[in-house]
Amino acid sequence: MAFFKSKSGNTAGLVDLDHLPRHIAIIMDGNGRWAKKRGLPRTAGHKVGAEVFRTIATYCKDLGVDYLTVYAFSTENWKRPQDEVNTIMTLLKKYLLESIDTMAKDNIRLRFLGDLSVLSEELQELTEETNAISATLDGFQANICLNYGGRDEILRAARSFAEDCAIGTIGADALTEELFSEKLFSGGLPDPDLIIRPGGEKRVSNFLLWQCAYSEFIFTDTLWPDFKKEDLDAAIIEYQSRNRRYGGV
Ligand code: IPE
Ligand code: IPE
Ligand code: MG
Repeated sequence: MAFFKSKSGNTAGLVDLDHLPRHIAIIMDGNGRWAKKRGLPRTAGHKVGAEVFRTIATYCKDLGVDYLTVYAFSTENWKRPQDEVNTIMTLLKKYLLESIDTMAKDNIRLRFLGDLSVLSEELQELTEETNAISATLDGFQANICLNYGGRDEILRAARSFAEDCAIGTIGADALTEELFSEKLFSGGLPDPDLIIRPGGEKRVSNFLLWQCAYSEFIFTDTLWPDFKKEDLDAAIIEYQSRNRRYGGV
């Protein structure tokens, strides 16, 4: 097995570039606590967190990971104070505008998972623009979960299947895991191999409930705004030390 020096430039870990997780997912948590520790408003943590996302996405691409899926805003996050929600949406707009300028050059495709219909018209138009650019590219893909909830996703797929049954395009017996997966927001994507949750909490918080059946989980206390390329290396190295049995021996 060939090991390579970590591409982050840090010699602390050796990432085996021949056995990378094809799909990494990250619950980007800890922005608020990061800001609070510094006496800053929670929104300051989201600003830094957005930059960290950009850095880590580019790093995943450079390593040779095919897909990065990040949890950016959950179906439950609307409960937060209005100014915090507004800041997150403003950061999203900034990110989309920057991406429209850079994604073709960087060969980074973007896809959004979640119900975008409740976002502002402007944001929806920008996501359509990034979708159109993505369709012309063939490189690394970053999936951004926005107004995303795992239960909501499963419920929508179940509803859609029930409608298909009602109009007779398919019989209930014909439903398979593959067909059901295709109806999820993540339709067409491989399941995540590795799910990382920074921020210290050890729960899934409604993220990729269907898709995580055989994902490897790594929980780290590092808050997302402090997350570095070296932390991704460390997570990949730990992932590579695990034995995935999928129920076998
Ligand atoms: C994650 O960080 C970002 C979003 C959920 C939008 P948090 O804002 O949840 O940060 P903590 O968990 O309160 O520190
Ligand atoms: C999960 O983090 C959602 C995102 C990172 C977008 P939360 O901060 O919302 O999760 P809980 O409240 O700790 O479960
Ligand atoms: Mg949180």
